[in-house]
Amino acid sequence: MTMITKKQKQVLDFIKQYKTTHGYAPSLQEIGKKFKLASISTAHYYIKKLQEAGQLNKAFNQPRGVSTIEQKQTIEISVLGAIAAGQPIEAIEIPDETITITRDEIGKQGKHYALRVQGSSMIDEGIFDGDIVVIRKQEVAENGQTVVAVIDDNQATLKKLYRENGKFRLQPANPTLFPMYRDEVEVRGVVVKIIRNLESQLDQGQSRDEKYVRKIDYSWDYRGEKTKSHTHGIHTYPAMFIPQVGRRLLETYSKEGDTICDIFCGSGSALVESRLIGRNAYGVDLNPLAIFLAKAKTTPINPQKLTREYLALLDRVEKIKDNEITRPDFKNIDFWFKDKVIITLAKLKKALREIKDITIQNFLMVAFSETIRYSSNTKTGEFKLVRIKGNKLEKHDPDVIGIFRKHAEKSIVGMTDFYKDVKKNVWTKIIYGDSSKDNGIKTSSIDCIITSPPYGDSRTTVAYGQFSRLSAQWIDVFDNPNDASGVDNDLLGGRATKDLMHTLSSDYLKESLEKIAKRDKARAKDVLSFNLGLNECLKQAHRILKPGKYFCLVVGNRLVKQVRIPTDFIIAELAEKIGFTCEDIIVRNIPGKRMPIKNSPTNIVGALEETMNKESIVVLRKN
Ligand SMILES: C[S@@+](CC[C@H](N)C(=O)[O-])C[C@H]1O[C@@H](n2cnc3c(N)ncnc32)[C@H](O)[C@@H]1O
Repeated sequence: MTMITKKQKQVLDFIKQYKTTHGYAPSLQEIGKKFKLASISTAHYYIKKLQEAGQLNKAFNQPRGVSTIEQKQTIEISVLGAIAAGQPIEAIEIPDETITITRDEIGKQGKHYALRVQGSSMIDEGIFDGDIVVIRKQEVAENGQTVVAVIDDNQATLKKLYRENGKFRLQPANPTLFPMYRDEVEVRGVVVKIIRNLESQLDQGQSRDEKYVRKIDYSWDYRGEKTKSHTHGIHTYPAMFIPQVGRRLLETYSKEGDTICDIFCGSGSALVESRLIGRNAYGVDLNPLAIFLAKAKTTPINPQKLTREYLALLDRVEKIKDNEITRPDFKNIDFWFKDKVIITLAKLKKALREIKDITIQNFLMVAFSETIRYSSNTKTGEFKLVRIKGNKLEKHDPDVIGIFRKHAEKSIVGMTDFYKDVKKNVWTKIIYGDSSKDNGIKTSSIDCIITSPPYGDSRTTVAYGQFSRLSAQWIDVFDNPNDASGVDNDLLGGRATKDLMHTLSSDYLKESLEKIAKRDKARAKDVLSFNLGLNECLKQAHRILKPGKYFCLVVGNRLVKQVRIPTDFIIAELAEKIGFTCEDIIVRNIPGKRMPIKNSPTNIVGALEETMNKESIVVLRKN
């Protein structure tokens, strides 16, 4: 850059300041007026000089095209899912999209990420439902800063943070809401910028087109209801079914004695429900850990026998000496586990393997799998594998046996209820397979299919394989534990298509792909790949279902590159081409995102009701 004169510097400063205030650069007229210049060409002269000096860019053919060089520096920030400005929600990081903003909007220092806001507890700070907040990563905050706070073992919320009398006060910026107090708060960053969202397509409950209609139905929310009864709570899994939703679909669209199927059964929530209400069930999944969990959750075990084996196991573990164990051998084991943890886990595993009754061994192995996650060096708040850092990692000293006992004992209580309530004479068959292919389920043999497909491709959304990897490696669900890292590639949308050519007949898909491709071709290919796979799954579902019977899919309409993909409508369109009729699209609120009305100091019923995250239940009927 060359030197500039004092006057040129004044012009440059004016342009910068104007841009900061207005968000765009001044026109030549405005520059002329400010400096009382004789003509526009004089303003032009200054601009030219500043350009030659390397201080300004100018696109002459664009109005207000003047921009300063340093302001041009942009940064791409990942939007890592949603944050509740309201009731805390589980901290799940799903990189959904990225936003690009200029560096000087957020300051030069630090690492950043962004979150989409749900709820209205921060409205007085100008943060509204659907906005995006840019967060600077940091673990400490000053009094009064708006922070991403994780409380109560992995619940994330956006609040103002204050330290008071040795406690933390999480203060909403909404006069109708009360603060929360906690002894411990984990700060994950402070808000540095708010990006207003003007899009609310889904919230209107109705599509722009008349082709399909979404019906919002609050009776499907099941807010505040227990979701971990029976064996439902024995292991975490990403994007689990709310048991009440599964049960209601089964009760509405099938009857006792029917044979149902969940083609993406995951950890088996729908299968547990079907056993409890007397339906035979098939479950299919392509993630070996999901198969393992689904089997354990749906196999009744006599609780007395289970408790006896559990107590004997605890005795045995204590007696195992360090030199009697074999350390598992898989890539990066020392990165993910401390040595002391590896030794205790290996002892537990040895003692578990000595249980002769395989169903009991497998059931307790599920508690072991949870123990693996909680005692590893990973942040438990994330489904992706993210290692704890620095000081926290140094201090990380998990009580492996304690964690195991907590989970095992909770699981035994769950199994006691399941054993008591399960209907006799029904079976569950769980198939490790790809639902886009024929898995041996007979043509026209199924009375009802209920399922929740993956959210999108596993690499950029919920990484089922990555979530399962460490457990899968420890509990030997693969012949070669190193194969565990390949799972996500095989799941729906795991491999991007070569190009964007396709023959799927869905206008909604076409429109979404075009919009996304304009912004990012690679992401459009991921979306196409997912939908191609999904279409094959719809065809298989059509094959196995009896004519006239129902197929229900619980889906989320995800956002990719700021484009809302109407997956519910796309499924309806694709399915109708295959031989289904779309009978209903019910929109339900995802529970836990609404503020408790009973706490309203205003006493206005519904005053605290918020716009929430939603998902659609697509109800199809085979023609
Ligand atoms: C939303 S989860 C289902 C969660 C389940 N409802 C529960 O309650 O645990 C979607 C599942 O689809 C599975 N999946 C992805 N692609 C698949 C495919 N091609 N065939 C079968 N399962 C697949 C994933 O492994 C994941 O477990």
